[in-house]
This record gives sequence, structure tokens and C-alpha cells, in this order.
Amino acid sequence: MIKKGIILAGGRGTRMSPLTIGINKQLLPIYDKPLIYYPLSVLMLAGIKDILIIVNKGQLTQFKHLLKDGSRFGIKLSYAEQFNPKGLPDAFILGEKFIKKDNIALILGDNFFYGQSLTKKLKKCLNLKSGCKILVHPVNKPELFGIATTNKKRKIVSIKEKPKNSKSNLAITGLYFFDNKAVNYSKSLKPSKRNELEIVDLLNKYKRKNKLSAEYLGRGGAWLDTGSIDDYYNTSNFVSTLENRQGFKIACLEEIAFKNNWINKKEIKDAVGFYGNCNYSNYLKKLIK
Ligand code: TTP
Repeated sequence: MIKKGIILAGGRGTRMSPLTIGINKQLLPIYDKPLIYYPLSVLMLAGIKDILIIVNKGQLTQFKHLLKDGSRFGIKLSYAEQFNPKGLPDAFILGEKFIKKDNIALILGDNFFYGQSLTKKLKKCLNLKSGCKILVHPVNKPELFGIATTNKKRKIVSIKEKPKNSKSNLAITGLYFFDNKAVNYSKSLKPSKRNELEIVDLLNKYKRKNKLSAEYLGRGGAWLDTGSIDDYYNTSNFVSTLENRQGFKIACLEEIAFKNNWINKKEIKDAVGFYGNCNYSNYLKKLIK
């Protein structure tokens, strides 16, 4: 059973520049909350309470100011700094002391997931005992994504980076579940031509051992990337549209914690005090009425 998660929330944010020059991408707003709330909500929905957040050098203060030690959400947050964006597998090298001997979930800080069966799918993935499981989701333009081809048993038989004329349209999302071997495998990776440790190289280590499998979010689920300006605003509009129509918030962390019985009414009231007089607080107040 996976009980720990890492959010990789550093990165260069080049595509979002100049927005990301003064501020980490994951602290920018997606409609009414900072982007980091969304990947954090995914781990919390899965039931993960022990979470390491990796940020760029010099940005710890901002993240701690916002999220603190996680007790507001009934979880335990730890932090680590990445001195250079050395690539996604670096999460397992930086996180070695946090991971210890356990298996681990990894989510990219700029990924957005939503959908009715999401929690159920996530919990299923936490049962991973050995190997690696990745969440895949169909996309209209496979040539823009890392694409996996699966067989009937949901094993991944090939991974291609931005393939032309691909038969598969299953994109590799930014949510992965790894056994503990990920730490040593990551340490053994060599940097690529762009001088980064590549997640594809790590996944291929599992694939070669026939230990790489896929979970499907399903057609009713949404996966959006917020890495480019257009994707970023599309995601923000998606949240705004749904929240205003339904009156439910997406990624309200205190609500998830409350429903998981990790915090009580008093802690929700404290959160209202923390946020002050705002729409988000009004929503929290309604939860405990
Ligand atoms: P990317 O989309 O690869 O890169 P980026 O966010 O730095 O943006 P750009 O390509 O525009 O320069 O990163 C995906 C996520 O992973 C993002 O949330 C940042 C994070 N990340 C790290 O925290 N450390 C890293 O070394 C890398 C490569 C990414």
C-alpha cells in the first residue's frame, strides 16, 4: 500500500515566462486557488497524508507561508529544494531520505486531474506492490505528448516521445506510482542530450523488466496540463465554469480533509481565520453549517 507522495513543484517555467520569473508556476492562480492546491488535492483524494513538496532553490519560504506543515489539511508536509531542474527522476534522488524503504506516488506540480471515478482509480493504484504504474489518458494530438502503447493486460509495450502517426493516443500523464526501486534506478540514469534525467528512461527500466503498467482515468475524467499559457488559462476557465455552475469547489483541500475525517469543524473555523474574508472562506463556512 502506497502511503507517501511527492509533488514536484520546481521547474523552469520557461513557457510561462515572464509570468514565472518572479514567482514559481505552482503558486500562480488557477481560478480561485494556487495551482499547487490541485495536485495536492489529488494525493489527498487518494488518501495519502505524508507528502514531500520539492521546490526550486530559494522558494521554500513562499510555499511554507501558504501550506505550512500541512496540519490545516490534516496531513504532514515536508519540503526539499532542487538546486537545478535536473529532470523528473531527480525527485527520487532528492526524496531518498523521505521515501526510505517505501513505495511512492509522484505527481507533477502543474498537472490537473478531475473526474467522477478519479478517487476510486487513485486508490486502486495505491495497491501497487512492485513495478511502476502510470496514469494514461487519451489526447487528440499524440504528436505533442509522451505516448504509451498498451496490451490487453494493461502492460505498457512501448513509450514514444511526441510520435508522428502514432496508433496509440494514450498520453502519459504526470501521475506515477513506483516501487522503491525507483530510487536506485534514478541514481543510475545518465543525463540526456538536454542534460536532464528523463522520466522516459526511468520508465523504460521498468518496461524492460515487464514491470510497467497503465491505469486509465477513463472517458469521464479530465487531465489538463497547465504548462503553456493557453493550457493554463483553459484549465483556469474549466475550474471557473464548473465551480460557478455547480457551487462545488474543485481542490478545496480543507473540504477533502474534512470528508476524510482528517480535520474537524474547529479546524475548518481556524482555516477561515487563516484565509480571512474571501469567497474560499465563505465556502468553508457553508461546509460546517
Ligand atoms: P516541465 O513541464 O518539464 O517543465 P517546466 O514546468 O519547468 O516548464 P517549461 O518546460 O516551460 O520550462 O515540468 C513539469 C513539472 O515538473 C512542473 O510542474 C515543474 C516540475 N519540474 C521540477 O520540479 N523539477 C524538474 O527538474 C523538472 C524538469 C520539472
